[in-house]
Amino acid sequence: MAEQRTLAIIKPIAVQNGHTGAILHTICANGYKLRALKMMKMNKTLASTFYQEHKDMDFYNDLIDFMTSGPIVAMVIEKENAIEDFRNLMGSTDPSKSKPGTLRYQYGTSMRANAIHGSKDEESAKREIELIFTKKEIF
Ligand code: RTP
Ligand code: MG
Repeated sequence: MAEQRTLAIIKPIAVQNGHTGAILHTICANGYKLRALKMMKMNKTLASTFYQEHKDMDFYNDLIDFMTSGPIVAMVIEKENAIEDFRNLMGSTDPSKSKPGTLRYQYGTSMRANAIHGSKDEESAKREIELIFTKKEIF
């Protein structure tokens, strides 16, 4: 299979709790190449656009509040089958149901504060990468 890129985000709680270095280490140790990386704070407009697929869900406002509550670390990562493999490395949306060894099992504290985001398919990966990074920021 060809190399594939996906967007990963270390969410505010994991950054605040000092897990950025450990999560980056796990990502790189699992064979992903870093193509872009930045620490930033999402504003409401960006977070709302980013999660627009959930705009009718009852958790949407809490999700936007959480994602804008502090700095995040966003990155473009690349390897074969990156999108599916990274979702597996993340674990289930609900950390209490995620498997040992996954990032959400290790660093997630609740359904909302689940430590890490990864794009769900190729279309989302392209859209999310273009929302967060300019072409010049990707190497
Ligand atoms: P993500 O997009 O952040 O990588 O997470 P995901 O694909 O595993 O889950 P998704 O269904 O896309 O939901 C996005 C984020 O919304 C919060 N959420 N809360 N029932 C709830 O309270 C609920 N469901 C989802 C989570 O923070 C989830 O990561
Ligand atoms: Mg999702």
